[in-house]
Amino acid sequence: MTVKNQHITFARLNREDELPYELLLLADPSKDLVDKYLEQSDIFTAKQIDEIIGVIVLFPLTAETVEIKNIAVKPAFQGQGTGSYLIKNVIRFALLNGYKTICIGTANSSVGQLYLYQKLGFEITDIKRNFFTDNYAEPIYENGIQAKHMLVLTRPLIA
Ligand code: ACO
Repeated sequence: MTVKNQHITFARLNREDELPYELLLLADPSKDLVDKYLEQSDIFTAKQIDEIIGVIVLFPLTAETVEIKNIAVKPAFQGQGTGSYLIKNVIRFALLNGYKTICIGTANSSVGQLYLYQKLGFEITDIKRNFFTDNYAEPIYENGIQAKHMLVLTRPLIA
């Protein structure tokens, strides 16, 4: 697929492949939490020629619901459609694999991400109060706002 004039490919990472931690930690600064969910997740990448420019991680929550646990695009490639491309591809993957809903959690301070997910059909369905203050050692700030609560957004998967 072509994203803003760049040829990008979507692929599933094999277990023996090196993990793109630089990207994974951009979305989630806790390596302990990342390592915990990676064990049971499917990891997909967006590649430009041989360079991994984006990553997305799918974690099966239940037999019917899958969660996007992590999504990140290299800063130099952000704002060019790669994040949307990754989300649209995992929506297709989840649908083909029989899931009924897909969800994603993000901080109250992640204003741009909340815009992106809602634009792609996700709706806020839950709030995990104090998730970021309870689970992360250091305070996290974005857009001048402290990340305190996790907003959970859900999208039905319809063929
Ligand atoms: N701030 C403002 N606007 C944004 C942001 C942001 N952080 N992210 C996306 N958008 C907007 C874009 O401007 C664009 O708007 P438009 O369609 O009106 O032009 C739209 O959302 C689509 O953007 P894409 O280009 O498809 O997204 P991108 O390739 O930039 O990837 C991503 C989005 C993955 C959030 C990227 O910005 C990133 O890696 N951020 C750092 C890591 C991060 O915060 N990850 C998410 C954490 S939550 C989690 O992982 C479950």
